[in-house]
Amino acid sequence: MKNVVITGSTRGIGFSMAREFLKEGCNVTLSGRSASMPEANLRELSAFEGKYVYIQCNVQEKESLKRLWDASLERWGSVNIWINNAGQNAPHIYSWETGETYTENVIKTNITGMIYGSQIAASGMIKQGHGAIYSMEGLGSNNMIQIKTILYGTTKCALTYFMKGLAAELDGTGVIAGRLSPGMMLTDFITKTPDGERSEVISDEKFRKIFNILADRPETVAKYFVPKILANTRNNVQIAWLTNRKAAWRFISSGFRKDRLI
Ligand SMILES: NC(=O)c1ccc[n+]([C@@H]2O[C@H](COP(=O)([O-])OP(=O)(O)OC[C@H]3O[C@@H](n4cnc5c(N)ncnc54)[C@H](OP(=O)(O)O)[C@@H]3O)[C@@H](O)[C@H]2O)c1
Repeated sequence: MKNVVITGSTRGIGFSMAREFLKEGCNVTLSGRSASMPEANLRELSAFEGKYVYIQCNVQEKESLKRLWDASLERWGSVNIWINNAGQNAPHIYSWETGETYTENVIKTNITGMIYGSQIAASGMIKQGHGAIYSMEGLGSNNMIQIKTILYGTTKCALTYFMKGLAAELDGTGVIAGRLSPGMMLTDFITKTPDGERSEVISDEKFRKIFNILADRPETVAKYFVPKILANTRNNVQIAWLTNRKAAWRFISSGFRKDRLI
């Protein structure tokens, strides 16, 4: 039985992974910026009373992440798996048109927050003598350039570099680091703007076509990730859902896919 901490787990893939870890018998710390979890989450997790705790945490603040680590340690005794999942998007516009607040938010959440989270988890886990740290990759992790998405892409490119470097630094410590690559998923991240409005990209016919071929529900991706995370003992792994082969097959078989997502 493992003790798991997931940043940004109030919805999307973070919440789906939390539920899968609970189903596997783990203890889970969920977290997000609000003081409490949405009512719907509490109902969904009612079968797991006592096996999870929710801690308020804004990953942009190191102190907040420290409290998340400390509270998890106090509750579960140790932390076996720490996942830097919290992530934000920037508006779908050119980089030079993007306002300061959006620019700062995407960097402070996806890069600074991920680095702070990793620093806290790494030093705590080295003290414990064991543990695994994962971060959630995204567009940009493979250096692909997509116009009007380059701020977000820059952050995920940096995340991948940092996590590979962290794995090298952790070599021989008993602590491992890895990356999770989820492909495209039907979550608020795609369907809403950073302000919570309906995103205009989902009205774009070309985007819809590709999304319906390549994307999945976060529940599907979480079901794939969680057993692999629990079984992994290797440093510097990438656990990838949408591999190039799978993507190619999706295009070939797209005419037969029934469950259109958007
Ligand atoms: N959806 C995709 O197609 C896709 C593809 C590749 C990678 N990803 C990555 O997957 C991760 C999760 O995305 P998702 O699609 O599940 O998005 P989502 O549904 O929008 O969920 C984002 C989560 O991050 C939390 N969050 C945002 N800013 C935060 C902050 N400053 N501090 C703490 N928590 C914060 C949110 O919680 P609160 O709002 O409650 O604070 C929420 O739980 C992100 O890293 C994203 O970049 C997504």
